[in-house]
Amino acid sequence: MGSSWTVAVTRQIPDAGLQPLRESTTVKLWDQELPPSADELDALLEGCDGAVTLLTDHIDGSVLDRHPRLRVISNFAVGYDNIDVPAASERGVLICNTPDVLTNATADHTWALLLAAARRIPESMAYVREGKWQTWGPRLLLGREVSEATIGIVGLGRIGKEVAKRARGFDMRVLAFDPFEDSNFAREHQVTYVSLAQLLAESDFVTLHVTLTPETQHLIAAAELDRMKRTAILVNASRGPVVDTDALVDALRSGSIFGAALDVTDPEPLPADHPLVNMTNCIVVPHTASATVQTRDRMAALAAENLLSGLRGERPPAAVNADEV
Ligand code: DGY
Repeated sequence: MGSSWTVAVTRQIPDAGLQPLRESTTVKLWDQELPPSADELDALLEGCDGAVTLLTDHIDGSVLDRHPRLRVISNFAVGYDNIDVPAASERGVLICNTPDVLTNATADHTWALLLAAARRIPESMAYVREGKWQTWGPRLLLGREVSEATIGIVGLGRIGKEVAKRARGFDMRVLAFDPFEDSNFAREHQVTYVSLAQLLAESDFVTLHVTLTPETQHLIAAAELDRMKRTAILVNASRGPVVDTDALVDALRSGSIFGAALDVTDPEPLPADHPLVNMTNCIVVPHTASATVQTRDRMAALAAENLLSGLRGERPPAAVNADEV
């Protein structure tokens, strides 16, 4: 140990992150399967100079006030809606995240969900497992064609752009909605920016890649689902509250859209008896878009590097409020 820093790590992260932290700090590790409660988090953060947090840890001004020694919070995620960043900036606490290293894994996963929903893969597997497969059938488990269809990408940031690039491999028409337009990318990758209303009306697949903010909460609610084609599929790999869950349940029940595939939900986790879990036209997976061995190693290494460089007083590779503290 080369310093007197103490840091909290709020869950078992890969060794690629734990090891460098252990070499330079005293690590207080929360090694349980489930996240610490608010009280347990307080106990863990006691006496810490920094912390690696997860999206399941809620860090607001009152948490920071109870732990005035904290100088750096390094979130093990690209999203940081679990942290009140303005409150951290006011208190001079640096907030870091893990962009870029998970972009490909998340884009790949979006495609896995889209294809699985379009071709009804989970339903088909259940059909075989339940012993229903008697013969080849001309009308058996018909899905939706992906090649040459129209995909609408809501939020054309890092991940949305990788989703767009993959869509070209399926000869798709690619629409995007994003208030910040990147005309060079759009030209190079044949993406057409449109309004959200036009995207919803014309897309066969609508995929969400926005960050969760007050503006994007329930961005997709009853009116937006209503605008989608009856044959369309909604994919959400952003944050659960971007979609109004009750409205989605209604749309899937009434058949006003063909299906949905969700990496994220609201609430999260979804209880096993939730309607979305038990609908044949809805796929739910447990927020695993970045869950590959390679990506989680890279996230851990970056989270550690962010934390250590912040503690050393250097600018971390990925800090979200470096100019505000
Ligand atoms: C993130 O990074 O924000 C994902 O939701 C988890 O990898």
